[in-house]
Amino acid sequence: MSESLVEAAREAMTRAYAPYSGYRVGAALETRDGTVIVGCNVENASYPAGICAERVALSAAVAQGHREFSALAICVEAGSPASPCGICRQVLAEFAPALPITSATTRGARQRWTLDALLPAPFTSAVLRDA
Ligand code: THU
Repeated sequence: MSESLVEAAREAMTRAYAPYSGYRVGAALETRDGTVIVGCNVENASYPAGICAERVALSAAVAQGHREFSALAICVEAGSPASPCGICRQVLAEFAPALPITSATTRGARQRWTLDALLPAPFTSAVLRDA
């Protein structure tokens, strides 16, 4: 996990639209070919319509033709690193079930996991085929 990926997440965080929670999140996904694609959380007056930084990054990456990922960095301004929410874990697992994740704060804290440790039993297409 390169420090530049964390820096890309930190920069994306500054563009977050989070007027309701005030909790700004940036995410940076590195693709297998080394491309970095970022996302930030985008909230909405209709609260459930908001979307997390991780899913913005993943959706943008897929829309740009990327389906293979080697790392994810997340950055928040809070005291503790953010752990990706359950929906984001499931969405990321569709493409990269063992994705290395580094979660950072602007104050220098770091936490690392692989996605399979955070979501050990994802729902997969294999189950759909077995129906
Ligand atoms: N959020 C993210 O973007 N990523 C996370 O990993 C945790 C939560 C957002 C959703 C919402 O806009 C705000 O943070 C507070 O939950």
